[in-house]
Amino acid sequence: MPLVNKSVTSTNLALAGKRVGKVRDLYEITAPLGECPRILVVATDRISAFDVVLPSAIPNKGALLTEISMQWFRLIRQWGIISDHVISTDPQMVAGISNQERDMLRGRCMICRKVRIVPIECVVRGWLAGSGYKEYKNNGSVCGVVLPAGLQQWGKLPEPIFTPASKATSGHDENISFEQAAASVGESIMRRLRVASIAIYKMASEHCAQRGLILADTKFEFGFALDAHGNATDELVLADEVLTPDSSRYWIASTVGAGSEPQSLDKQFVRNWLLAQEAAGLWNRCPPGPVLPADVIAKTIERYQQAAAMLGG
Ligand SMILES: Nc1ncnc2c1ncn2[C@@H]1O[C@H](COP(=O)(O)OP(=O)(O)O)[C@@H](O)[C@H]1O
Ligand SMILES: [Mg+2]
Repeated sequence: MPLVNKSVTSTNLALAGKRVGKVRDLYEITAPLGECPRILVVATDRISAFDVVLPSAIPNKGALLTEISMQWFRLIRQWGIISDHVISTDPQMVAGISNQERDMLRGRCMICRKVRIVPIECVVRGWLAGSGYKEYKNNGSVCGVVLPAGLQQWGKLPEPIFTPASKATSGHDENISFEQAAASVGESIMRRLRVASIAIYKMASEHCAQRGLILADTKFEFGFALDAHGNATDELVLADEVLTPDSSRYWIASTVGAGSEPQSLDKQFVRNWLLAQEAAGLWNRCPPGPVLPADVIAKTIERYQQAAAMLGG
């Protein structure tokens, strides 16, 4: 029988508390007596760009994202920077689902400590691209961080900068200043998040550089661990996905520095295709997004696979 590349675009497990994100489906799962609340995080093959979930799937993307995240969670633990939410990736630990459903989950699920997410996207940029470059071009700063004049698009910043964004429950995330973020969630919390985010970014960038990759920027989410009664503690943990091609810009190092757009191993390929659709008047960034042509899907899979291979090597 030919190997069929089946995509997982939605899940329907008979578990409580289902929540659907752009890419992940989350469920509540029962923790052993006396232990902290747990969730099941399922990375589907959905893809979003410009905050719109596209009608096309990228086969196996959820598994690649999980594989890449898990590699980084392991490294970050070794580096001793901060604890994280991962408990296991073994679907056998999930009660109340069928063996067929466990097969579907294998490789694309994480069983995690449930946390109270801090509603701030902790963005770190070491290179200037995307919305950061746009902001810099307009006013010489990114999220209130003033930068030297004369920096180029796709160029390196003198130092990595922490540029938070509000985590909107609906609509678009918005770049905000450190002060605005501090006013919303507390200054001491934001300081802790900035220290952890920059530390992870710096270590991860070095790791990437040894593998011929540049980590241009990335986004982390953190949360407060819950105690066995479900109350938030003061322990900040790294949650969500980490340093994946969905949450980061990865560039092939040898293609950087020519003053032209570097070759990226992330969603940029899809974004550029969508921008061309927009320029041609075929899309206006509102849902539903356009169906992706087969060759765009194929080239996107290739990029995610190459990122996983280069990072794992
Ligand atoms: N350990 C956790 N506890 C509770 N929520 C979490 C945890 N880890 C991640 N999340 C949340 O789960 C969701 C992940 O799904 P995703 O599809 O990435 O969502 P989004 O559309 O917000 O990017 C995010 O809203 C994230 O904040
Ligand atoms: Mg997300």
